[in-house]
Amino acid sequence: MNEIKNECDIIIFGGHGDLSFRKLMPALYHLSNEGYLHEQSRIVTATRDPMSLEEHRTLVRSKLKEFLPDSVFDEEQVKHFEKQLHVVIIDFKSDESYRSLKALLDLFPQRERVNYLSTAPDFFGPICKSLSQFGLITPQSRVVLEKPIGHDLHSSRVINLEVLNYFDESQIYRIDHYLGKDTVQNIMALRFSNRFFMPLWNANHIDHIQITVAESVGVEGRWGYYDHYGAMRDMVQNHLMQLLCLVAMEPPCSLDADSVRDEKVKVLRSLRMMTPADIAEKSVRAQYTKGASNGEPVPGYREGEGMAESNTETFAALRVDIDNWRWNGVPFYLRSGKRMRKRNSEIVIYFKKIPHSIFANLGKRISENKLVISLQPKESIQLQLMNKVPGLSEQMRLQPVELELNTPLTKEHKPDAYERLLLDVIRANPTLFMRLDEVEAAWKWVDVILKGWAEDIVPMKSYSAGTDGPSAAVQLIARDGRSWHDE
Ligand code: BG6
Repeated sequence: MNEIKNECDIIIFGGHGDLSFRKLMPALYHLSNEGYLHEQSRIVTATRDPMSLEEHRTLVRSKLKEFLPDSVFDEEQVKHFEKQLHVVIIDFKSDESYRSLKALLDLFPQRERVNYLSTAPDFFGPICKSLSQFGLITPQSRVVLEKPIGHDLHSSRVINLEVLNYFDESQIYRIDHYLGKDTVQNIMALRFSNRFFMPLWNANHIDHIQITVAESVGVEGRWGYYDHYGAMRDMVQNHLMQLLCLVAMEPPCSLDADSVRDEKVKVLRSLRMMTPADIAEKSVRAQYTKGASNGEPVPGYREGEGMAESNTETFAALRVDIDNWRWNGVPFYLRSGKRMRKRNSEIVIYFKKIPHSIFANLGKRISENKLVISLQPKESIQLQLMNKVPGLSEQMRLQPVELELNTPLTKEHKPDAYERLLLDVIRANPTLFMRLDEVEAAWKWVDVILKGWAEDIVPMKSYSAGTDGPSAAVQLIARDGRSWHDE
C-alpha cells in the first residue's frame, strides 16, 4: 500500500459537471484505493444543485458505476471512498453561500487545501475572491485551473491576473491533461536518460517532426463551448504546443518544476512568428461535413445545434519553425481534428537519409529511420530501422523493421492522466503544470494565426467526416516534398 502522509481537503467547484464525474471522481477513487489519498482527506463537491449528503454520495456512486470499468468498481472500496465525500451548495456569485464551505473547512484550518476550479473561466476570479473574503486561502492552499484559460492572450491575462490577486503563482496549477499521460512523460525519460539519442536529436540528424492528435469523435454535445473555441484554441494552443515543447526543449538542469518550465518556455519564445504570407502558406483550417464514423453516417458540423452559420474550424494543420541552433531548418508539422478517420495521437521523428547507399543497385528504397511515439489509442514507442531479409538469395534484400521500445506495464490498472495530475497537486509538485509565462507565450504565437484566419488570409476548407482531413493539409506538407505518416 502506498503511504501518503498529508491530510488534505480537495474542493471541486463545478463538482457536478461532466469532467468531475467522468475524470476527477474516478481518479480520486483510484488514488484512495491505492493509498495515495490519506484516509482523513475529504473531497468536498461545491455545486449549485441543492442536495443532501446522502443524495450526493448516491449520485457519485452511480457515476462511478457508469464511468469505471466493471473490473474496477468494487462495492467495498466504493463504500470506503464514500466516507471521504462531502457536499456544499454554493452559488458562485453569492458570497453568502460560502458560509457552509467555511464551516466545513474551518474544522481543520491547518490542512492542505486543493481548490479545483472545474467551472467556466468567468467564475475563476469570483470564486477566488470569495475564498479570500472568507479567509479560506491559507499558505497551504493551492488552486487548480482547468482549461480554457481565456480565448486569446488578452482574455487569458485578465483571468490569470484576477486569480493572482488571491493566490501566488507558486500556488496555481494550470492543468493540461496531456502532460499527465504516461507516454507524454516518457518523452522526457526517453530523451534524457538515453545517451543514444543525445547526439542525434538536432538539425544535423533530424529531417522533420510530425505531431498529430486526431479524434474520431465529434463535439460530443459541447457545441456552446466548442464553437467559441475551435481546434486551434481547444487543442493546438495547449496540448499540441506542450507536446512540441517536450520534443524540442533543451535538457533541463534538473527535474524541478522551474527548470523544466524554463526550457519549455524557451521553445515557445523561439517559435517563428508567422507573417500574413506564412499564414497563407503554412496554415490550414477546415470544418467537417457529413460523412461516416465507425461505419455509421454522421452529420456535418454545421448540422449541429444552431451551427448552420458557424465558421469554426474543427481541423487545423500548421508548419512550425523553431528559430534556435538545435532546430534550424527542421520543420515541425502539427495537425489536429475532430471526426477524423481514426483516433490517433502520435509524434513521429523522421531522421535524415543516409549520406550514401551501397545498396542503391538493389532497386529497393532505403527508408529513413523513424521514431514513432504513439500516445493513443495504442501507447508505444517504435524505432524503424532497415534490416536484411533473412535467406540465401543472391542479391541482398532489405526490409524496414520495427524495434519496440516499450516495456509492458506491470500494474493492472493504468493510471489516467488526471490521476497523475491530482496526485501531483496533492504532493505540491507543479512540474507538469503550466506556468503563466508558458500560457502567455503560447497564446502570443497562436493569436497571430487566429487574427490572420479572422481576416480570411486563408480560406476555410472542408473535409468529410471520417477522413484524414482536407487535401490542403496534404498539400501543406507535400509542398516541402514530404508526406504525413500513415498515409
Ligand atoms: C480536451 C478537449 O482538452 O481534450 C477536447 O477540450 C478533446 O475537445 C480532449 O476531445 C481530447 O483528450 P484525449 O485525452 O481524449 O485525447
